[in-house]
Amino acid sequence: MMRVCSIVGARPQFVKAAVVSRKLREAGEEVLVHTGQHYDEELSDVFFEELDIPEPEYNLGVESDTHGRQTATMIARLEPIVETEDPDAILLYGDTNSTLAGAIVGSKRDLVVAHVEAGLRSDNRSMPEEINRILTDHAADLCFAPSEGAIANLAAEGVTDGVYWTGDVMYDAILEARERSRRESTILEELEVDPDEYILATVHRASNTDDRSNLAAIVDGLADAPRPVIFPAHPRTVSSLREYGLWDRATEHLEVIDPQGYLDFVRLIDGAERVATDSGGVQKEAFFLGTRCLTLRAETEWVETVDCGWNRLVGPNRSRIREGLLEDWKPASDPHPYGDGTAGRRIVRLLEEQLQPDETAPALETASLD
Ligand code: UD1
Ligand code: UDP
Repeated sequence: MMRVCSIVGARPQFVKAAVVSRKLREAGEEVLVHTGQHYDEELSDVFFEELDIPEPEYNLGVESDTHGRQTATMIARLEPIVETEDPDAILLYGDTNSTLAGAIVGSKRDLVVAHVEAGLRSDNRSMPEEINRILTDHAADLCFAPSEGAIANLAAEGVTDGVYWTGDVMYDAILEARERSRRESTILEELEVDPDEYILATVHRASNTDDRSNLAAIVDGLADAPRPVIFPAHPRTVSSLREYGLWDRATEHLEVIDPQGYLDFVRLIDGAERVATDSGGVQKEAFFLGTRCLTLRAETEWVETVDCGWNRLVGPNRSRIREGLLEDWKPASDPHPYGDGTAGRRIVRLLEEQLQPDETAPALETASLD
């Protein structure tokens, strides 16, 4: 039976692992490791509870630090666990420092390294996540790509072996959460907003939170919105708003609230007239839920959402944000570039094929996906 060590650490990785972990535990054994990169209740525990993610077997307790020290501490604490647990593979998600730490430990110990959400590129090397993605994809033996574009990105860097199209696990997650959030979430009532009558905004990218003029331009652009702006604020954004003297301006014009749990947040995206964000996951979720998105960055990894007109790159630029919020544009088409909502099942099946080929039949191509 295959034995897989999965590494998570930050909010979006909990959402992704929720899709894969339970299926993985039906097919084999999983050792789930939480690095501790996100440790606040609302960035971590709430996701495990709501999404019924198995309790991690280990929490490395690493917490916040410089990138080098944070990644190094994760590596140092993960390595002995991998040695003791002796998995067949290490399973990584996305592009955080936790992902990179897992890639280094797994590849140095000559385990099968599998990467979910492989092949994404912003082509912006000043972005910490871009470095994490490139290094992880190149260390990985199995690259699970969410789109055809991701496969092309990998091919352009010479990565063609072990590359599989799976679709995007966040699409699987949204398909489960959409109806549930409509039934269970009362967040719109709590905030006293009506569907289609508010804007939802999030900011946490380093290029926006660590640059006063970018953050000020975003606050000013959002303050020009023709509707109330709900702003669930990441802790680093709260710190920066305070440090740069932007807190009063932000709270005067925006409804700044704590980070939300997944179901309430999905309900907020679903009900929003449009979304403004620099998050990778939120851009996609807006697209899946049919909510138009303004991306507060100069580029995106999720280019398909821009190509079809659901997403507009406005950057941290006040007048472009303002225009994007005021203009009533119509998306050009409704494509499905990120799969059919079975990415989790495909990933587990591919792991079985690779790690226990004799026990696994039939092959994915001929297997029923029901
Ligand atoms: C990290 C990821 C980013 C991902 C994001 C998801 C990296 C390099 N960045 O960014 O790719 O999009 O998670 O949200 O891996 N903090 C708290 N409480 C917490 C965690 C963090 O207050 O539970 C504060 C600390 O001041 C910390 C800062 O947030 O210094 C940044 O945290 P960190 O994990 O380094 O990066 P994120 O911005 O969360
Ligand atoms: N999210 C959430 N509550 C929030 C903000 C985000 O549940 O207040 C979820 C969101 O639905 C998505 C994930 O967190 O599934 C995205 O995480 P984030 O924006 O922090 O990171 P990124 O996707 O940019 O790496």
